[in-house]
Amino acid sequence: MKAAVLKAFGTPLVIEDVPAPTPGMGAVVVDVVATGVLAYSGEVLSGQRQYALELPCVPGGGAIGRVRAVGPDATKLAVGDWVYCDPTFRSRDDAANPDITLQGISARGEGGLRLQRHFRDGAWAEQTRVPTENAIRIGALDPAEAGRWVKMGSLLVPYGGFLAAKLQPGETVVVSGATGGFGGAAVAVALAMGAAWIVATGRNAAALVDLERRFGPRVRTVRMTGDEVTDHAAIRAAAPGPIDCVFDILPPAADATQARAALMTVRPNGRIVLMGGINMQGGAGLELPYAWIMRNCITIHGQWMYPPHAATLMANLIRAGLIDLTQYDVAEFPLDRANEAVAHAAATAGPFAMTVLRP
Ligand SMILES: NC(=O)c1ccc[n+]([C@@H]2O[C@H](COP(=O)([O-])OP(=O)(O)OC[C@H]3O[C@@H](n4cnc5c(N)ncnc54)[C@H](OP(=O)(O)O)[C@@H]3O)[C@@H](O)[C@H]2O)c1
Repeated sequence: MKAAVLKAFGTPLVIEDVPAPTPGMGAVVVDVVATGVLAYSGEVLSGQRQYALELPCVPGGGAIGRVRAVGPDATKLAVGDWVYCDPTFRSRDDAANPDITLQGISARGEGGLRLQRHFRDGAWAEQTRVPTENAIRIGALDPAEAGRWVKMGSLLVPYGGFLAAKLQPGETVVVSGATGGFGGAAVAVALAMGAAWIVATGRNAAALVDLERRFGPRVRTVRMTGDEVTDHAAIRAAAPGPIDCVFDILPPAADATQARAALMTVRPNGRIVLMGGINMQGGAGLELPYAWIMRNCITIHGQWMYPPHAATLMANLIRAGLIDLTQYDVAEFPLDRANEAVAHAAATAGPFAMTVLRP
């Protein structure tokens, strides 16, 4: 089968024939119909992000596809089923504290790397092999819509954060870093979960105006100036009342003070969710004041990805019309043009832009 292979960090992907994956106990093989390219994929492939990814490998996490072959442990999946391939692979020998590898992207610790060595390849290929439980049925799709459904992968990330923070209908939410792909998805998800108002922050004024235009008056935006005191006050002023939950998903390049300006707007007894990349490549940490956390009974949720059942719920939110996939602009590339797709994803990054490979 054809695949895009990364042989060394900082070198172009090589599109070549590789052995097709085989199913087996605990794994299924899926024909990839569409798979996403992240805005920052180029930073992962260049090595800039220093993500744990052993090479050579087929990069790419997650896909929309159809089951090609199942292993003996599949009791419901059938050949031909449309599935979302969840890139969050968890070890199965410690349910309370599983190791995690993100398919074709990165891994956490030595346990995550062991899992990565076993599953090895990602989804930028004609076929992908995933743990049986990671192939999640989403119901029949028009193949033309498969590219759009790739957005599930971005929507699920903030959904994981809001599930962790037990977001309630009627609450007021701040999304810090709302002008990126995941931050824009956080706004859409919080609205779908019933947040009354959302204060969306970012530096890009045009992207903020676009968020307000598309989502309407429940979304208020604040342009970050880089001055912590000014930004903190502007977020507070934009919220119609106390802020129940602050969600941050700024990238590693952002300064921790930008995150802190948003996080400390939360009300007493509020929750904050940390899902961004602050401090991942060094630099100053968050330095939230101990006394402020203690006196205000603040709950802090760190969250990587989302629980296994979330994909089924997300597919339902989409099918029910609570999340509208037609608002996303999808640029589709064949596998042969994977390098071009990576550059395109970086150049067009934003809340409503998607870059997709169609192997
Ligand atoms: N926890 C998880 O499970 C999980 C999963 C996936 C991704 N992530 C994290 O999510 C982050 C966001 O990803 P993304 O694809 O939405 O977008 P991204 O391309 O990484 O950046 C998002 C936004 O951050 C802002 N930004 C960029 N450089 C900045 C800087 N130096 N200072 C301040 N703001 C800056 C930009 O908006 P403005 O120009 O408007 O400021 C940009 O649109 C990723 O970098 C990753 O670390 C976490």
